[in-house]
This record gives sequence, structure tokens and C-alpha cells, in this order.
Amino acid sequence: MYKSPATLTFLLSSLFTLGTPSPVDTAANVHQKRAEYVRGISSLEVKRSENGPVITQNFPDPSIIKVGSTWWAFATESAGTGINIPMASSTDFKTWIVTSQDALPNTPPWVNMTAQALWAPDANQLDDGTFVLYFSAAVNNNSAHHCVGAATSKNVNGPYVPQSDPLFCPIQQGGAIDPAGFKDWQVKGNWTAVNGNWNSKRAAKYSNNNNNSWTNASWSQGGMGGQRYITYKVDGNSLGNGDLAGYGNCGNTVSPIVPTPIVLQAVAADGVTIQGSAVTILNNNGLSDNGVVEAPSLVKSAGGEYVLFFSNGCYDTANYTVNYATASSVSGPYTRNGPLFQTGTDGLYAPGGADVLWDAQHMVFHADYPDHNATNRPMYTAIINIQGNTVTA
Ligand SMILES: *[C@@H]1O[C@H](CO)[C@@H](O)[C@H](O)[C@H]1NC(C)=O
Ligand SMILES: *[C@@H]1O[C@H](CO)[C@@H](O)[C@H](O)[C@H]1NC(C)=O
Ligand SMILES: *[C@@H]1O[C@H](CO)[C@@H](O)[C@H](O)[C@H]1NC(C)=O
Ligand SMILES: *[C@@H]1O[C@H](CO)[C@@H](O)[C@H](O)[C@H]1NC(C)=O
Ligand SMILES: *[C@@H]1O[C@H](CO)[C@@H](O)[C@H](O)[C@H]1NC(C)=O
Ligand SMILES: *[C@@H]1O[C@H](CO)[C@@H](O)[C@H](O)[C@H]1NC(C)=O
Ligand SMILES: *[C@@H]1O[C@H](CO)[C@@H](O)[C@H](O)[C@H]1NC(C)=O
Repeated sequence: MYKSPATLTFLLSSLFTLGTPSPVDTAANVHQKRAEYVRGISSLEVKRSENGPVITQNFPDPSIIKVGSTWWAFATESAGTGINIPMASSTDFKTWIVTSQDALPNTPPWVNMTAQALWAPDANQLDDGTFVLYFSAAVNNNSAHHCVGAATSKNVNGPYVPQSDPLFCPIQQGGAIDPAGFKDWQVKGNWTAVNGNWNSKRAAKYSNNNNNSWTNASWSQGGMGGQRYITYKVDGNSLGNGDLAGYGNCGNTVSPIVPTPIVLQAVAADGVTIQGSAVTILNNNGLSDNGVVEAPSLVKSAGGEYVLFFSNGCYDTANYTVNYATASSVSGPYTRNGPLFQTGTDGLYAPGGADVLWDAQHMVFHADYPDHNATNRPMYTAIINIQGNTVTA
């Protein structure tokens, strides 16, 4: 298994926390950390499915898409780079190269040009093989709030051309951020016969045809013809009543704490035409969430469970997590069953902003590295395993 030098640094740093396990540590995971440390020094045989940072520069809120045999990740913009939406690619999910290209060279007129604040982009492939990129940006007439826009391209790495109007712009509720596409799928035929891991053969079974070619663009997001959705966060944090001392800078820990709904919106096969009304599928639980839930990423597991990954806690505190909730119906009700990663998990600090590929196995996320400071949030990867309502990595 690939391990970067940075991973070893994490293993070392996790040793230093062994003396005083955080409250979340069970005897079993302290044992696991110790085992990782002991083995990590003398060999690379570490049983741990997170990797990273695989990109050492700031690459927050990453999203993931696979096209052919290439992985692509997109991230929130980093001030001073001159790139609106940065991208990285990999051919093995291990070694990542940040491109010098800008996925979105031109922003639409609704975006504030002097403070674009382009956050959390998410690229999706449509059944015709073309791509749609969702992103959020500060609104020109009110830069305190973000809205969600869409841009299209024939190529995964752009250049994406934005639509002139935003897709979601609920300014009165705080605006919209963190869009993520999801295409539902239905089992077609008897794919239990495939018996084993989620793979291209199984994908072929439920894509209602017998072509096992993984290069077929229509399968790259989970089969033909499934209902498309966009999940996003209604950004109540931008309307909140301020920050209680020690809770970070997310603006929503002073009572009354306002809603920050994660909503699910059905869209047509073009990825941008709204169908019906949005449904709220998760909300913050007040102070225990630091007034924040955000960064949704929805997948359907091989077992047919809907798994909504999200982050709670303020992103610039140790409380940020990669969390998840599960449901047997796409519109919920979703029950929290996480977190998957939190501060202290294998030496991670403030992990969050995760996105999972439609295969429900490949995850990217960020964590604060090297100095536990959210000004540098490089990208990590993980291979996850969903069994029923439980996700492990
Ligand atoms: C501000 O801009 C947004 C995005 O274009 C738009 O939806 C909204 O109506 C505008 N508000 C005002 C007051 O002009
Ligand atoms: C754009 O954002 C900047 C920085 O926040 C702000 O000073 C300016 O007023 C905004 N522009 C508009 C048109 O709101
Ligand atoms: C599906 O395939 C498995 C394995 O071949 C078989 O045991 C099972 O009976 C099949 N189910 C149906 C509904 O055909
Ligand atoms: C499967 O799809 C690929 C890509 O579209 C195509 O090249 C190939 O010929 C197809 N194979 C069959 C057996 O239809
Ligand atoms: C992918 O497969 C579907 C179903 O067989 C087919 O209709 C479509 O043309 C294929 N697309 C490509 C790009 O080969
Ligand atoms: C984390 O949240 C708890 C409340 O759940 C709060 O007491 C604590 O101050 C928070 N920590 C940070 C670093 O914000
Ligand atoms: C994080 O880094 C920034 C920029 O270097 C610095 O201004 C800030 O004080 C740091 N925050 C903490 C908590 O160390």
C-alpha cells in the first residue's frame, strides 16, 4: 500500500497523542494507533486506508470524479494563485499533480469580481459524456452571501463556461454553498450473481445492458438514466448571530442559532433544469454542531443505502469532522451514524469537506496540515467501505 513520507509524520504525531487519548478514543483504536506506529517505523505495512496529504499545498473542500482511467479533483480557490478553480489529476489515486489550468477562467456576472470567494466546486459527467461543474461564489450585489452556479464543458478539465444566472440563490436564508451532484441508480437484473466487490461488472449489470466497458461515459456516474440531484447547503452561517468565544469563525453559535439546511434538489438529465421542490435532508443540531452542517456528498452504497456525507463543527476548529447520515430513501429521513473522521483519527486534524465518488468507495477530503491551521488544508484520500448503516475506512 502506498504511503507518503507525510503519512509517517502523521503516524509519529499520533504516537504523541497516545498518552492522553481524546474522549473519542476507544481501547480498540488506541490499540490500532499503537500498532500503526510500531509497524509504521519499520515497514510500510500499515493498515490504514487514508492517505496523505496527497496534495501538500492548500486544496480545500476537494471533489472527485473519474473519467476513463484518470481521477480529477477540484478545490476551493486559494487566494493569490490567480486560479479561480484549481484542479489536480491522478492516474492511480495515489500520486496527484496539481495542474496549472483554471477550470473556470471566466466567472459569470452575478459573481463579485473583487471578492469571488469561489468555494467547493463539483464536476459531474452527464449521460451524453459532457460535464457540468457546480460551484459557489460571493454574489455581486451582496458579497456577504454566496449563491450556487453551474458551468459546462465538453472536457472534464474545462474550460467550463458558466451559465449567466445562478442555479440556487436563496439570499434571504443566507445564500447557498457546497453543491454536489448525485445520480441515483436502480438495480437492474440479478447482480448478486456478481458476488464480490463493487466493480465494473456489477456496474454493467445495473446499467441495464451487457457492455462491460468501463470507458462508456454513461456509466462513469453509476449507470444510464438514473434520476439526477444536486445537494447543497443553505448558508445560514452567513446570517447567524455571531461567534461564542472558542467556537471558531462560523458566525452561528450565539443564540438564536439559525438553520443551515442541507437540501436535495432533483434536476433533469442536463444537470441544470430544476425538477420539483427542494427537500431538507439534514440540519444543524445547534451548539453541539457549532451551528454548522455543510459539505454534503451523497452516494448510494452497493447495498442500496443512501449515505449523505457532511461536515459539522466549525471548519477552523478541532471540531470539524467528516461525518455521515444514512437513509433507505433518497429524500430521507437521514439518521446520523458518524463521524467517520475527526480530530485525532490517525493523527488527522479538523478533517472535513469530503466528497465520495459514485462508487461509494473513493473519498477525498481535507485536513489541517502541517500546523493545525485552517489556512492550509491539503487534500487526503481514503478508501471507504459501506456496510448497511456503517461506514469504515
Ligand atoms: C442579487 O443578485 C442575485 C444573483 O444574481 C439575484 O438573485 C438577486 O435578486 C439580486 N438581489 C438584488 C436585491 O438585486
Ligand atoms: C464586492 O466585494 C467587495 C469585498 O467584499 C466589496 O467591498 C464590494 O462592495 C463588493 N461589490 C459589490 C458590488 O457588492
Ligand atoms: C441471483 O443469482 C444468485 C447467484 O447465482 C442466485 O443464487 C439467486 O437465486 C439469483 N436470484 C434471482 C432472483 O434470480
Ligand atoms: C462497449 O462500449 C464501448 C464504448 O462505447 C465500445 O467501444 C464497445 O464496442 C462496446 N462493446 C460492445 C460489446 O458493445
Ligand atoms: C454507453 O452505453 C449505452 C447503453 O448501452 C449506449 O446507449 C451509449 O451509446 C454508450 N455510450 C457511449 C459513449 O458509447
Ligand atoms: C467544540 O464544540 C464544543 C461544543 O460541542 C465546544 O465546547 C468547544 O469549545 C468547541 N471547540 C472548539 C475548538 O471550537
Ligand atoms: C493561522 O495562520 C494565519 C496565517 O499565517 C495566522 O494569521 C493565524 O494567526 C494562524 N492561526 C492560528 C490559530 O495559529
